Amino acid sequence: MKNILCIGAGYVGGPTMAMIARKCPDYNVVVVDINEERIAAWQSDELPIYEPGLAELVKSTAGKNLFFSTDVAAEIEKADIIFVSVNTPTKTFGKGAGKAADLQYWEKTARVILANSKSDKIVVEKSTLPVRTADAMERILKTAPDGIKFEVLSNPEFMAEGTAVEDLEDPDRVLIGGHDTESGQKAVQALVDIYRHWVPEEKVVTMNLWSSELSKLAANAFLAQRVSSINSLSAICEATEANVAEVSRAIGMDSRIGSKFLKASVGFGGSCFKKDILNLVYLCETYGLEEVARYWEQVVKINDYQQSRFVANMISSMFNTVADKRIAVLGFAFKADTGDTRESPAISICKLLLDEQANVVVSDPKAIGNAKKDLAEYADKVEYEEDVYAAVKGAHAIAVLTEWPMYETLDYKKIFDLMEKPQFIFDGRNFLDHDMLYDIGFNVYSIGKAPKKHI
Ligand code: UDX
Ligand code: ADP
Repeated sequence: MKNILCIGAGYVGGPTMAMIARKCPDYNVVVVDINEERIAAWQSDELPIYEPGLAELVKSTAGKNLFFSTDVAAEIEKADIIFVSVNTPTKTFGKGAGKAADLQYWEKTARVILANSKSDKIVVEKSTLPVRTADAMERILKTAPDGIKFEVLSNPEFMAEGTAVEDLEDPDRVLIGGHDTESGQKAVQALVDIYRHWVPEEKVVTMNLWSSELSKLAANAFLAQRVSSINSLSAICEATEANVAEVSRAIGMDSRIGSKFLKASVGFGGSCFKKDILNLVYLCETYGLEEVARYWEQVVKINDYQQSRFVANMISSMFNTVADKRIAVLGFAFKADTGDTRESPAISICKLLLDEQANVVVSDPKAIGNAKKDLAEYADKVEYEEDVYAAVKGAHAIAVLTEWPMYETLDYKKIFDLMEKPQFIFDGRNFLDHDMLYDIGFNVYSIGKAPKKHI
């Protein structure tokens, strides 16, 4: 039985390893983390992250061939294949601050692997990293005492939060990047063998290490670019009374364009898009490719603009002031079906409203805990209400920032009666029934559509 180890029990490491354990009963899978609380949560019935289907997946394998531990050193020694999925946040200090990836956790991990290895190992980059990070990893590992050999592979993860289990079960493709040497190709094959337990051959794509690293950044940049493209058009739609949903449908029907990722919104969030684009921008700058850097940077700028535009629109429609008005924010997660709020547009939108002295009350079925951390600096100014009806009581306006399906089936007549007059609703996800809301009496504002107002 081969031993697989994953260092980093986060959003990527936990679900990915649970799926490998489920599909590969002939492998022993261990996930380690330095965060004891996180490991204890993975071992309990209250997993540290919310993902549909994940609890069942972990339950079916935990204790059989899936284990969680904090003993990083001991597990490294036993492992044949080590996946590394530690966090690589954007640097907040020094050179490249605000753009480059902070690789300190990554480098520390490389050194821990080196210090605790007594046999050859395959080391797999799972976290999204700037191109040529594998090179740094290899240079550290090459200092190993004679006889111990490491082969570094890139195997980026493409799963999206909220659909992680589905995406892992049936991925569009699995990318494996390795060196074109005999030992490199042998290592690639060892990883191919794991995925071939459930992923069809044509979907397991092998390539050189740097292409694999760049493909991950490029895929996220392309996806985010589509969202920014449609969001930029939403501003024109509002100005001209075109409807962005109709424009999106029309362009998406072109098979060369395709219909996905063309939903106008308050902007993209999540741990990957912004971080990966900024990584790409920094990489371009490092190689002197200024024009390319500016091109991709604009995708992030439009995203910021969309959020400030949303708030400006709220203020101007509510008689140019939100000061002392109760605003119910429905949805704080960066998308539905997750409790994750990293880079959620709700963070900046709430902060902008709070700076305008609005009384913000946040409601979300899964993300209130994270919201409290994100808005900690405004702790005494924000209210949290899991119950939507309690949140909207006495509110002047509702801002819907996450497309939770439960928001489609709320009793909006009851909500209307609970609110201050005139009632405003701002649908930042364009997914509610706007005609129905207008008929109840709401003044309805959405993204990329003319408002429907009674006053
Ligand atoms: C993304 C990539 O999809 C995934 O392949 C990668 O591994 C990690 O980054 P994730 O961030 O989990 O996944 O979610 P995703 O579904 O891509 O959504 C990102 C953001 O874009 C969300 O805030 C979402 O609401 C927004 N979005 C998406 C839109 O605003 N409009 C769309 O049409 C699609
Ligand atoms: P991702 O979304 O990429 O999975 P997370 O932040 O959710 O990122 O998870 C990364 C995990 O890696 C965290 O739980 C963190 O504690 C862990 N981690 C960071 N550095 C190390 C390390 N040197 N050894 C073990 N775990 C680490």
